[in-house]
Amino acid sequence: MKHNPEKPTDKLGVLLPGMGAVATTFIAGVFAINKGISRPIGSLTQMGTIRLGKRTENRLPRIDEFVPLTDLDNLVFGGWDIYDDNVYEAARHAGVLETQLLDELKDELTAIEPMPAVFDKNYVRRLDGPNVKKGENKMDLAEQLMKDIESFRERHGVTRLVMIWCGSTEIYIEETDVHQSIDAFEQGLRDSHPSIPPSMIYAYAAIKMGIPYANGAPNLSGDVPALVELAKQTSTPIAGKDFKTGQTLMKTIIAPGLKARAIGVNGWFSTNILGNRDGEVLDDPDSFKTKETSKLSVLEAILEPNLHSHLYDDLYHKVRINYYPLRKDNKESWDNIDIFGWLGYPMQIKINFLCRDSILAAPIVLDLALFLDLAKRAEMSGIMEWLSFYFKSPQAGAGLRPEHDLQRQLIKLENTLRYMQGENLITHLGLDYYEEAFES
Ligand SMILES: NC(=O)c1ccc[n+]([C@@H]2O[C@H](COP(=O)([O-])OP(=O)(O)OC[C@H]3O[C@@H](n4cnc5c(N)ncnc54)[C@H](O)[C@@H]3O)[C@@H](O)[C@H]2O)c1
Repeated sequence: MKHNPEKPTDKLGVLLPGMGAVATTFIAGVFAINKGISRPIGSLTQMGTIRLGKRTENRLPRIDEFVPLTDLDNLVFGGWDIYDDNVYEAARHAGVLETQLLDELKDELTAIEPMPAVFDKNYVRRLDGPNVKKGENKMDLAEQLMKDIESFRERHGVTRLVMIWCGSTEIYIEETDVHQSIDAFEQGLRDSHPSIPPSMIYAYAAIKMGIPYANGAPNLSGDVPALVELAKQTSTPIAGKDFKTGQTLMKTIIAPGLKARAIGVNGWFSTNILGNRDGEVLDDPDSFKTKETSKLSVLEAILEPNLHSHLYDDLYHKVRINYYPLRKDNKESWDNIDIFGWLGYPMQIKINFLCRDSILAAPIVLDLALFLDLAKRAEMSGIMEWLSFYFKSPQAGAGLRPEHDLQRQLIKLENTLRYMQGENLITHLGLDYYEEAFES
C-alpha cells in the first residue's frame, strides 16, 4: 500500500451496470447534494468522523477531511440498462424520490442515458428490455463493454473510473472449473460458457481495464478465483457482495450484541414485503435463492453455533421475501427472534422495520465509489476486505472467514484508513490512561 495518496482534483467516472431504483436514487442524490438541496445522510465518508490518536488528544476529523477522497462535485456518471429510459425517466419509474425533487434536477438527470446492456434473460427471468447488445460470444460482449468504457472516458475527459454493479439479482450459480483460473475464464468467455452470467462479463471488463469493481447484488460476479487473480494481476481493488441495507443491517447490529452477552437464540424468522422491480425479480425462485443464500449466511457466521453448542446449535433461521407491488420501494420487514437467558428462560424480540430500500442503498454506492477510488490511488489490489462494512456477504480471501459484525467491520475500515494515512492503529485497550494517571 502507498501511504498518504494525494487529494485528487480531477473528475472520477462512476459506471453503473443497472440503472434502476438504487442507481438513480444515488445519482439524483449526489446532484441534489451538490446543489445544496439536500444532505448526504447515511454516508460514512461524508458524515462520519474518525478518532485519531489518544482520547485525550480530541482529534476527531470528518472522514472526508482525513483521507483524500474525490469531492462530490467531481463525480460523473454513466451506465448500462436493458431499458433505454434516461436517468430522469428511470427515477420517475422507480418512484423512490418525489417528482418535485426530480424536476429540480431534470436537466442533469435527462442527460444521462444508459448504454445498451449485456443481458441474457436466462439469468434474470422476470425482465425483458430492448436496450441490449448483440455479440458473437461472451468475449465479444466483454470487448464491447470495454469500448463503451473507453468512449465514456474520452467523452468526459476522465482518467479515473470505478464500476458498481447495481443490476438485478441473477439466478443462483455455483462456482465451477471455468471460474478457477484466468485462462479457463477467458476460454469460457470465448465459448459463451453458461456459468458466466452478464454480471461476470461486466466484472471482467472492468477488472481487465484496472477499474475498481464492486458488486451490490448477491450473484457471484467478481467473487470467483479467476477474477480475484485478474484483479491482482491488473492492480485492481474489488469488493462485494450484496449491499447491506434493511433487515440484514439490523441482524448484523443485533446478533453480535446477543452473542456478546451469551444470550441464546433458537429461532429467527425474517419476512419481507417489497414492491419494486427488485421485488419482482426476487419473486423468481432462482433469483430468490441467490438472495436467500446471501441473507442466511449472516447469522451462522456471527453466532458460530459450532463453538457455542448450548446457545446457538438449535437455531432455526428462515428468510422470506414476498413481492407486494403496492409497497413499491418502501419495504416492510418483520423479524421474530426467539431468545433465551439465564437457566434457559425464553424471551422474544420483535422488529418491524418500515424502511426505504434505495434510500439505504444509495449512500453505500457513494461510499464504495469513493473508497474504491481511494484504494486504487493507494495502490491496493484484490479483495478489499476492509469494505465488508457495506455488504451482506462480504468477499474474503480464500480460506478466510468473512466478518459480518457491523462494529468489527467498522473497526477494520477505520484502522485501514489510519494505516493508510500513517496514524497509530487504535486497539481500544485504554489501560495506558489509568497507568499514567497512577504513575503521576
Ligand atoms: N436497495 C437495496 O436495499 C438493495 C440491497 C442489497 C442489494 N440490492 C441489489 O441491488 C440491485 C439493484 O436494486 P434496485 O432496487 O435498483 O433494482 P431495480 O430492479 O430497480 O434495478 C435494477 C436494474 O438493473 C437492470 N439490469 C438487469 N440486468 C442488467 C444487465 N445485465 N445489464 C444492465 N442492466 C441490467 C434492470 O433493467 C433494472 O433497471 C439488485 O440486485 C438488488 O438485489 C439492493
